[in-house]
Amino acid sequence: MTTIDTDPDTGLDPLEFAVTRNLAAKSPAERDAILASPGFGQNFTDHMVDICWSVRGGWHRPRVSPYGPISLDPAAAVLHYGQEIFEGIKAYRHADGSVHTFRPDQNGRRLQRSARRLALPELPVPYFLQSLKELIAVDGAWVPSGDDQSLYLRPFMFAKEAFLGVRPAHKVAYYLIASPAGAYFKGGVQPVSIWLSEDYSRAGKGGTGAAKTGGNYAASLLPQSEAYENECDQVVFLDQDRNVEELGGMNVVFVYKDGTIVTPQSDSILEGITRDSLLQLARDRGHHVAGRNVSLDEWRQGVASGDIVEVFACGTAAVVTPIGVLKGRDFIDEQPSGTLALELREELTNIQYGRAEDKHGWLYRLDA
Ligand code: PLP
Ligand code: COI
Repeated sequence: MTTIDTDPDTGLDPLEFAVTRNLAAKSPAERDAILASPGFGQNFTDHMVDICWSVRGGWHRPRVSPYGPISLDPAAAVLHYGQEIFEGIKAYRHADGSVHTFRPDQNGRRLQRSARRLALPELPVPYFLQSLKELIAVDGAWVPSGDDQSLYLRPFMFAKEAFLGVRPAHKVAYYLIASPAGAYFKGGVQPVSIWLSEDYSRAGKGGTGAAKTGGNYAASLLPQSEAYENECDQVVFLDQDRNVEELGGMNVVFVYKDGTIVTPQSDSILEGITRDSLLQLARDRGHHVAGRNVSLDEWRQGVASGDIVEVFACGTAAVVTPIGVLKGRDFIDEQPSGTLALELREELTNIQYGRAEDKHGWLYRLDA
């Protein structure tokens, strides 16, 4: 068990995780073969973490156990009404072998905000942090050390009560699994092409757009298939007033000729931690940064007139990826290519991998 002191802010005692080792864990040779070319989200480590919650007992029975199928009652509420939330966060191996993650307090707090919106219980942030450390304590060897590689951590929470009435579940499970990761897009950091979704939206006013909940991603799958049919990598969504929202799994950022950086801001967009960090790095360089509505017309006209000099997408899985093309039903707009996206990507990853000073105190050590 990892020893963590009582949390000074919350007064919470650390959980005592019962650890059951996976006797069928992959051999070092099998693991190395996977880490040599991990792809994204295809292979999983030897263990997982789970913590139960019930109305009566609160958070209880924290465990580390062998990775494997979850047994669920067919009436479990999540299977019917989608009461589910998740997070995405990475663990990075530094040159000295230590393992760090990036701004996990932000993911812990976003998981709490998502929980509130989905009427799920809020996992205290110290428990969230402890769950990450517990998994690394047993599966630390799965954090790859190759260029741009990481261990993608996937915390998630769902309604497991067997009950078909529509109300917040009285029994919930929190899990954490992990998957070694290389580049999210096949082409690496090549510019991606974006399909404009005209017929489908991802979120609505007062909806769940700002929460990281499975339903938002389910809603994005059909438009994402349309993107593939139109030979695009990703789909971009608009709101009811034709303002740009975000991609299926990434935020969008526009760079203007005068150096101003603008990103869509509304309560139907997921507040990305990568975006927030990149904008801070841009502010540190003296860029003016604004969060406001950007209409599709402003985007297209800005590119046509030369006012917009770069457009990029960002998120934990894909880090920073320039947008090369915006394609709609009756247009194809080539996007201008600049250097800022890749410079900021370099600056961010240098901090994440311990190659540059962590001036903002963003790193959090997981293996100590
Ligand atoms: N928007 C959506 C819909 C996402 O799924 C993600 C990825 O998590 C993001 C934005 C970027 O968020 P973050 O940078 O915190 O990963
Ligand atoms: C992430 O970047 O962590 C995401 O969740 C995006 C995607 C894999 C759903």
